[in-house]
Formats: sequence, structure tokens, C-alpha cells
Amino acid sequence: MLLGVLFIILSNYFGVQMPMFVKSTVDELFKTTTIKNISDFLTLLLKIGGFYMFLAFMKGLFLFFLRQSIIIMSRLIEYDLKNEIYNQYQRLDYSFFKKNNTGDLMNRISEDVGQVRMYLGPGVMYTINLAVLFTMIITQMININATLTLFVLLPLPLMSYLIYKVSSKMNKLSHQVQQEQSKMSTLIQETFSGIRVIKAYSRETEVKSKFTKSADEYKNRNMKLVLVNALFMPTITFLIGLSTLLSIYIGGLMTYNNTITLGEIVAFIFFVNNLTWPFASVGWVTSIIQRAAASQERINDFLKEVPEIINMNNNPFKFKGKIEFKNVSYTYPNSGIKAVQNLSFTINPNETFAIIGKTGSGKSTIVNLLMRQFDPTEGEILIDDINIKDINIHDFRKQTGVIPQDVFLFSDTIGNNIKFGAIDKNVSESDLILITKKAHVYHNIEGFPDKFETLLGERGVNLSGGQKQRLSIARALIRKPNLLIMDDCLSAVDTETEEIILKNLKSDLNSRTSVIVSHRISSIRNADKIIVIDNGTKMEEGAHLELIHLNGIYSVMYKKQLAEEK
Ligand SMILES: Nc1ncnc2c1ncn2[C@@H]1O[C@H](COP(=O)(O)OP(=O)(O)O)[C@@H](O)[C@H]1O
Ligand SMILES: [Mg+2]
Repeated sequence: MLLGVLFIILSNYFGVQMPMFVKSTVDELFKTTTIKNISDFLTLLLKIGGFYMFLAFMKGLFLFFLRQSIIIMSRLIEYDLKNEIYNQYQRLDYSFFKKNNTGDLMNRISEDVGQVRMYLGPGVMYTINLAVLFTMIITQMININATLTLFVLLPLPLMSYLIYKVSSKMNKLSHQVQQEQSKMSTLIQETFSGIRVIKAYSRETEVKSKFTKSADEYKNRNMKLVLVNALFMPTITFLIGLSTLLSIYIGGLMTYNNTITLGEIVAFIFFVNNLTWPFASVGWVTSIIQRAAASQERINDFLKEVPEIINMNNNPFKFKGKIEFKNVSYTYPNSGIKAVQNLSFTINPNETFAIIGKTGSGKSTIVNLLMRQFDPTEGEILIDDINIKDINIHDFRKQTGVIPQDVFLFSDTIGNNIKFGAIDKNVSESDLILITKKAHVYHNIEGFPDKFETLLGERGVNLSGGQKQRLSIARALIRKPNLLIMDDCLSAVDTETEEIILKNLKSDLNSRTSVIVSHRISSIRNADKIIVIDNGTKMEEGAHLELIHLNGIYSVMYKKQLAEEK
């Protein structure tokens, strides 16, 4: 940036020399003592032209360096800022992402960073340029003739006032245009992601008219902006013209008493015109600065955010297999829903532990607490008899394979989506085949022409809910975890497939601590220990047969689901 300032000064220095050179040339020509014939005149013209071009070249050269330094600086800062924000996003925990919507998070890193860059690049460049140029030109003008300078600058206050007025009007209008534009893009985006629902309900006409209305508003707002814009340049040109007229008229009067030369008047006209663009840009630069300030504030809000879950322990942690919940309660801060209430249970190493309950009973909340996505409001969770807050949570998560309720697959190949789960990155094709056979999804993958290289997502294949769940199981298995957590991950497969998968997983479940969450008894029947959850409270606990004999909620559920199956 300092280099940039130096280049601004150098570029403007040569720029200001140009009118000064014209001045001395004109004065020289009018003396006419050196010119005796036409060839003298041509030689002189060549000399003058050459030198003038030299000045112009130097001005241009430093202008090039100036842009190379200041604009590049702004791009480098933009790069740093984007990385800083992205790193912060990765540092923050689950609750932060629940609080903020995706659009906002995206805007911080693209839109807002862009505004700040505009300030650091063009904003800073034009501001310094105006200050330097104005000082240099005014100094030169006063040196030539202070009285004339005063007259020429007379329209300046009026011009500043007009520019200020017009540009704040322009700011307001362009803000309104942007607002409508973001409304329009949200509308478009929603139409695309919901296109199947729109077509199924035959609502194309309504959606179209909604869009047309928004597009109309956008057009109207833009028309107003164009009108103000169109008035802006002529106004500036008119005022500059006024200054030029003043230089000629007042300057002309001054030549009568020889207080000014013709060359000096010419230089004045050049100077006044050189000031046009820098002055016209004041309003634009002001708006850049205002917008950047607002954007930086929003960015800072995010950067200052401290994650609630902080890993306090960086010592390696090896999970032996014991988990204990001690009077754990959890209330969601945003909804005030008490999702888990005074819950206690113990899972011993290598046990298969099951949680069963209706939807909304708090099962997934228990899983999230176990993964320390958030901390309990009351009570404590012990991992190998140590409070979960005191263990190295990264190590614990690395040894855990979670199969979440909502499957998320990346827009990548099937193979890469599975390998995402692997700790050891050297996954062979035979590993992939073995694992996907276990998850009972290999026969589906085999059916695709590209096998494991098949692309998923927007530009690739769409899988059924059950296929996605089984890929998600493969992803967790390839991790070879010490703790396997299955959160309702067989809900979209039929009971027959469920049985096959559970049979395939038998040895995996027996050789490590596992937690199976379900609302279906068929998924958890063989677990060592089952707890029945209702409204976040533990209602019953025991093995399958014990619970049947208890004749409580579990046995009612069992009979109902058995009847349904039949
Ligand atoms: N992020 C959240 N914010 C607020 N409330 C939530 C959130 N997630 C779940 N809940 C509420 O907590 C309760 C338990 O939800 P959940 O643990 O997902 O149940 P389950 O997995 O058994 O279906 C429900 O009443 C649900 O509405
Ligand atoms: Mg759930």
C-alpha cells in the first residue's frame, strides 16, 4: 500500500507537469523569436510533441504500477479474509449453525468480503488520488495566479453539495435495487430446488407471476437509478464548463494589464478539466466506504463469535468402550423444548445399547449430546469414567462412526463419499466392496455403469432414501470405529433388508460398543440393553425379553408393530 501511495504521487506529478509544459510551450510560441520559417516550426512541434508524449508515458507507467500494487494488495487481503472466515466457520459448533441461516453465512464470505475489498482497492486508491491530485493542482494554480484560482474554484462548493446530494440519492436507490435483486435470487433458487413440488401441484403460472412481479419491481427501481445517473454527469460537466468559462473570461480580462500570460490561461483550463473525474468519483467512493464499513462490522460479528464447545485437552485419547449418562437434561435454547430429562444409563465396553421411542421423544438429542455437539444443561456424561468435557473430543470423534438420521452425501463419487469416513486414506477397491456388501448396497452400486466412480448429487445420480442410508452405513463402517452409533438409520429400508444388514453387522456390533437408535423394535430386538424413551424421559430399561415380560410401553409397542407386520 505504501508503494501504491508513492506511485500515486509519481503518476500525478507527471500528470501535473503536462499542463505546465503546455503553458511554457504556448508562451514560447507567442514570442515567435525562435521561429523563422516552416521547418523551424516543424522541428519545434516534434520536440514539443515528443516531450509531451514522454510525460504522458511516465504518467501511464506509474498508473500501471499503482494499480498493480494497490489492487493486488486488496486481492491479497480478500484472500486472507475469506480464509479467516472459512476457518472460523470450521471452528464454530453446531449451535452457531442452528442460529444462522445458510444465506447469511454465504453472504459474509462472498458479498461482504467483496464490499471490503472494493474499499481497500478502488476506494483507497481514488481517495488518496483525489487528495494528492487536488493538492498538487491547487498549489500549481496558486503559484500561477492566486486571484484567478479563487474565481475558478468558485463553483466548487456548489459542485460538492450537488455531488453529495445526488450520490446519497443514488446510494439509496441502488440499495433498493440490491434488495429487490436478492429477493429475486431467493425466489429463483427456491423455484429450482422445489421444481418437483411445483410441477406436481401444477403451480407454474403462480410461480411465474410471482417472479414477473419481482422482476417488474426490479426494473422500475433500476429505471429511477438510471434517471439519477443520467443527470449526474451532465451536472458535473456543466459546473466544470462554468469553471472553464471563468478561467477564460477572468483570465482574458487579466491579460489587459499583463498579470497573466496566454499559456497560463491554457494551463488553467487543463487543470480544471483534470479535476473533473476525481471529483465526480467522490460520491461513488463515499458509498463504497459506507458499504464496506457495514460489511466489515457484520464480518467482525462472526469472527468474534466464540465456540461454546472448546476442546480443552490435546492429549491422545483411546476410547475403551464405557459410556455413562448421569442425570442428564437438555433444553434447546431457541425453542425452550426440554428434549432430555434427568436421564441416566450406563453402556459397558462391547455392549450393544439400544434407544427406542416415538419420533420427537429425544433420541437424536441423546446422540448429539453423546457426540458433544452441545453440552448438557444439567448432569454429566462420562466417557471411560472421565467427563466428556475433559477428554480430547477430536480423538473421541475420530474413533466414532455416526450414521446420522438425515443422510448427507456430497456431490462427489460414491467411492469418495464412502472414503470420507475412513481415517486411513488408503482404501482399496476390495475394502470398498467388502464394506458395501456388509451394508447391503453393493448390488445397487454394481448396477451403475461407473460403479464406485458414479457421481452423486445435482449433476449425477439420485439415490433412493434407503440406498442413501446404506451408503451412510458403509461410510461409518469403513472408519473401523471403536464406537458405532446408528441414529434411526434403517428407517427407509424395509424390514427384510433391515434383517439382512443387521445380520451382516453382527460381528461388527459384538466387537465394539454400539448404540442403535430406532422407533422400530425389529431393529433393536437383539441389543444387550434397551431403554425406552418418551418425552425425553427413560420409561423402561432391560433386554428384549425382560421388557416384554414387564408388560409396559415396550410390550404394547411390540404387539402393535408385530400386528402391523402381519
Ligand atoms: N435444533 C433444535 N432446536 C429446537 N428444538 C429441537 C431441535 N432439535 C430437536 N428439537 C426438539 O426436541 C425434541 C426431541 O427431538 P429429537 O431428539 O430429534 O427426537 P427424535 O430423534 O426422538 O425423533 C422434539 O420435540 C424436537 O422438536
Ligand atoms: Mg431422531
